[in-house]
Amino acid sequence: MPPVQQDPGSFRDPLSRVFVGEDRVVRAFTATGKADLDAVWSRKSIAGALSSGELIESTMVDPAAVGLSGPWVAAMTHPRVPFISYPYEWTFTMLKDAALLQLRLTRRTLADGVGLKDATPYNVQFIGSRAQFIDAGSFEVRRKSDPWYGYRQFCEMFLYPLMLQSYLGVGFQPFLRGAVNGISPGTMRKLLPASIRHPRKGRLTHVVLHAAAQNRFADTEVEVKKEAAKAGMSAAVLDATLRKLEKLVSSLELGDTKSTWSEYTERGHYIEDSLDEKERFVRDAVASKPRRLVADIGCNDGKFSRIAAAHSNHVVAMDADPLVVDRLYGALKGEGNEKILPLYVDMSDSGGGIGWRGRERPGVFDRGAPDVVLYLAVIHHVAITFNIPVAAQLDMLADFAPEIVIEMPHADDPMVRKLLVNKRAGIHDDFTLEEFERLLRDRFDVRSKMLLSSGTRTIFHAVRRS
Ligand SMILES: C[S@@+](CC[C@H](N)C(=O)[O-])C[C@H]1O[C@@H](n2cnc3c(N)ncnc32)[C@H](O)[C@@H]1O
Repeated sequence: MPPVQQDPGSFRDPLSRVFVGEDRVVRAFTATGKADLDAVWSRKSIAGALSSGELIESTMVDPAAVGLSGPWVAAMTHPRVPFISYPYEWTFTMLKDAALLQLRLTRRTLADGVGLKDATPYNVQFIGSRAQFIDAGSFEVRRKSDPWYGYRQFCEMFLYPLMLQSYLGVGFQPFLRGAVNGISPGTMRKLLPASIRHPRKGRLTHVVLHAAAQNRFADTEVEVKKEAAKAGMSAAVLDATLRKLEKLVSSLELGDTKSTWSEYTERGHYIEDSLDEKERFVRDAVASKPRRLVADIGCNDGKFSRIAAAHSNHVVAMDADPLVVDRLYGALKGEGNEKILPLYVDMSDSGGGIGWRGRERPGVFDRGAPDVVLYLAVIHHVAITFNIPVAAQLDMLADFAPEIVIEMPHADDPMVRKLLVNKRAGIHDDFTLEEFERLLRDRFDVRSKMLLSSGTRTIFHAVRRS
């Protein structure tokens, strides 16, 4: 088998490590990790999660057969997730679904005498629109007095972010991107007005107070296990807490109903045959070769992601409008679509790596290169609204993928004119088709181009110069 490399984000669990190979991932276990695994792996709850696909497919292998030795005495392989995503790129409903998956697994395994070591959304990945738990090293035998070790983490990384959005209408993504450990109970208490957080309202009794208690344990010499035993952390008590949390999380809703881009689906400004021409052009470009991964940047409702998905294995569909992405996720989930992964990414501020040394959770451009990027009707927004030069956008595209399909609205396009209305006259005078094409040809060879019949947009299929 070809060699595997240690995943730079895998080190927090001393008992297991992840190694990444070309087409699979290996999770290796130390002797203690193996003992944990052996004690739980054949239990009903785990077998059930594996067969339902809630837990990633896992095949035991000899560590030596995958090139591992030393402390690694057991190993399993998993299929590679098509594109790794992080909670700060998920929408509200994605984080909610991931939270419910975490709670479901925690409850089912608890009933089977199995404990989950933690509760971080980084253990969940999306295969298209399907949430899947990927940390097969998270399970251990639960001793009678064990508390739910992941409780505080669940609050910090799932519950509080969801509450921020649901109760206050504040997007959680910048908070999770700003702190790899999420929102602390202290911060959450300050953010939530007393009217919402007041324990008499019931819904927060099992959240803010419990989390605060765990916070106290973490900061002092108090032994959580002893305290938990004293407090009667029996499986039944924990199950009741988990059940309440399930109810609470299920009740949280994304309040937003309208955003800048939420009503774009009609694409009414594509006059005459322009939209059909654009669709055909994109289809021909993507279908010209077998494609593993396509990225659709500024995907909106995913119209073109779907065209790309028909001619590729997977599509990562990104947009800077979280409501639009949330709706796309809802639609894809409704269809059981496992090919298109919708993500909230703002190209003007996509972020670098976070966590330990900035490498634990790499930036979106460092998690695998797509074969093709669709950049359709986005360049003018990023250039004019965010002042990111066309040359810089083309550099980004050339760094990201060997091939692009890009739509360039001309200076006299009605949308370009609209964007320019509130800008100082003259500062975007170089936003022209001619200048764009010159910059494009510096970096790419143009395979084909087409002037849409509206007469104000040109679409290009281009291949990076070697
Ligand atoms: C004109 S629509 C194009 C939608 C789709 N690509 C198409 O061709 O039909 C532009 C989309 O780009 C998205 N967008 C604008 N600025 C963006 C940015 N900085 N990063 C990512 N997406 C952005 C908007 O949210 C919107 O959904």
